[in-house]
Amino acid sequence: MSTVWIQARRAARMNPSIIREILKVTEKPGILSMAGGLPSADTFPVEALKVACDTVLSKNPREALQYSASEGYAPLRDWVAQRVSALGMQVEPEQVLITTGSQQGLDLVGKILCDSGAPVAVETPTYLGALQAFTPYEPIFTSLASDGEGVVPDAFKRLRHDAPGTRFAYLLPNYQNPTGRVMGAARREQVVAAARQAGVPIVEDNPYGDLWFEAPPPPALASLWPEGTLYLGSFSKVLTPGFRLGYVIAPKELYPKLLQAKQAADLHTPGFNQRVVYEVVRDGFLEQHVPSIRARYRAQRDAMTQALREHLPAGCEWQEPTGGMFFWIRLPEGLDAMALLPQAVDAGIAFVPGAAFYAQSPDARTLRLSFVTLTPAQIGEGVAILGRVLRETLALAEEPTP
Ligand SMILES: Cc1ncc(COP(=O)(O)O)c(C=O)c1O
Repeated sequence: MSTVWIQARRAARMNPSIIREILKVTEKPGILSMAGGLPSADTFPVEALKVACDTVLSKNPREALQYSASEGYAPLRDWVAQRVSALGMQVEPEQVLITTGSQQGLDLVGKILCDSGAPVAVETPTYLGALQAFTPYEPIFTSLASDGEGVVPDAFKRLRHDAPGTRFAYLLPNYQNPTGRVMGAARREQVVAAARQAGVPIVEDNPYGDLWFEAPPPPALASLWPEGTLYLGSFSKVLTPGFRLGYVIAPKELYPKLLQAKQAADLHTPGFNQRVVYEVVRDGFLEQHVPSIRARYRAQRDAMTQALREHLPAGCEWQEPTGGMFFWIRLPEGLDAMALLPQAVDAGIAFVPGAAFYAQSPDARTLRLSFVTLTPAQIGEGVAILGRVLRETLALAEEPTP
């Protein structure tokens, strides 16, 4: 087909998100979907947001509806700088850049730090949306060896040799998407020491840190190496993703470039949204609201733990998450999660095959289950169906071929 349009090299590298493609299938009525990465809509504080919208439109309607500063709404930046002190970070409001979701923060990071052919290190597996955000800037990904606590410190030693000039390591220490794992305190110290030693700065992504079930996670990596860590936070999982509000906390030397990238991207994040969210959070609303999300998600996590123990065949492996939204399952040898998905959808459930979360060498036996959007009873039902599909497939594989 002839066309007058010549696409950029970066456009050829962009792929449709496999998760969005899967979500289209799972939107069929009646499907028990454990595929989505969405928070539970029942946790959105609709009343508080309604009152805050009204306050903003009554008090400062014209300022709220006008263009505004690219850095973000000053009282919200102050609030963020104050809030992250609970994570051990000492931050000045001038280091806070309000972004249109933390997803935009990832794009801005890619824009100012990645070059064609320059290495970027990621966990194994890692957040698919970050791979998508960085990919158009043409980095070469290196998968850092990782275990049940996240990246293994020794992996940094190999970078000097295998990927000299690595621009940054993208790390998710709290209830990682997709695995749900959390990095312990000792591991954090070791990882930061190893990254420093290797001369590789860290991009720390923390949208799930508030969603702990038993005890809060250890201090942020950014608290251990402030000048070598760029930190991303989000309001999506503690308030609502619909306002598209996140933030980057940048070392002072990086801030001006990030700000220029932000200006070019969208001038600023909607001032109205920033003011509404500030009205909601300014007087400690999250201190009562977030515990209610934790209690709800913990009960759903417990339901999934019980269902997995009851219904999954021997040989399936998982680690119970202590926060966040996801279980990560490794299937017995010979099974392929992607190949199983159509059968699972026909049987009435959906999950996300894990392969998409790997920058290199995908593990086809892995899959991600979200526990936050179904009720405990539906979780029981959904996992029972998954167990049945797995048993049937294993039984078929064991049948002697004629
Ligand atoms: C690890 C991680 N980072 C970033 C994001 C983007 O979040 P948002 O743009 O809504 O702040 C998500 C969304 O699910 C995520 O899981």
